Amino acid sequence: MSANDLTRDELIACLDWQVACGADEAIGNQATHDQPFVPLKSFLSTPSAAGQANLVGARQDSVRHAAPQVATPSSPSQTAAQQQISPPLIEPAGDELAAITSLDALRVALERLEGCALKNTAGNLVFCDGNPGARVMIVGEAPGRDEDRVGLPFVGAAGQLLDRMLASIGLDRSAVYITNLLPWRPPGNRTPTAEETRLLLPYLRRHIQLAKPEYLLILGGSSAKALLGTKDGILKLRGVWRDVDFGDGATRPTLCSLHPAYLLRSPAQKRLSFDDLLSLRARLA
Ligand code: URA
Repeated sequence: MSANDLTRDELIACLDWQVACGADEAIGNQATHDQPFVPLKSFLSTPSAAGQANLVGARQDSVRHAAPQVATPSSPSQTAAQQQISPPLIEPAGDELAAITSLDALRVALERLEGCALKNTAGNLVFCDGNPGARVMIVGEAPGRDEDRVGLPFVGAAGQLLDRMLASIGLDRSAVYITNLLPWRPPGNRTPTAEETRLLLPYLRRHIQLAKPEYLLILGGSSAKALLGTKDGILKLRGVWRDVDFGDGATRPTLCSLHPAYLLRSPAQKRLSFDDLLSLRARLA
């Protein structure tokens, strides 16, 4: 069935249903799912991946960053619809990842990755920005709407604040290498699920191994918890240097800090963030 088979009222009902599920934005002229249009009846019964074919959700960044918490399938920030659109994920075998020996090859592996529903709703893969040879690697959480459109991390409001934060300690994007825990935008900017984290964390760890940064700066609770394997919140984790082995036997001094999107909503916390930045500057000196 295509949109042409439906009446105007039925089409409006379909759109209303998607808006109720959190969609706010058309991300392309063509449906990105195999099924170009989902019959009204399936919209009205069970939310499906196809129902999210070319719209993405609109919950604010605050959903992802406001309350640092572990993303589990029972997280209150996940709706039933979001849980249902995730097919079973296929975890990469360690030797498949070990066979990837360059950043370009890792990007290609992600472009070819099957089994992650985020790809169906995202506009672009967001792999990296900055200088791959930089001493500092920054790991954010996931692309937002602007990053999804452009295909680069941290280009929206949070990214502009990140640029100012870096400038405050004399750095710019040529002095850092930037990536995210998730390379695709989660619909509605929701928190990465435990399943998504389990699938994509090995790719992030390989990314770190291949970039070989001297120092890691992890921004935000989701990425900090995933990379450190802890349930502690970001306010507890931040500000402390830890030597972390990301799977290649090398220990890399790693600092967790507050996410710029969180700082945009809680400017009083910039003081803590600046302490962390000064600590990074001291290391680099
Ligand atoms: N927030 C992130 O964590 N990463 C981005 O790329 C943009 C916003």
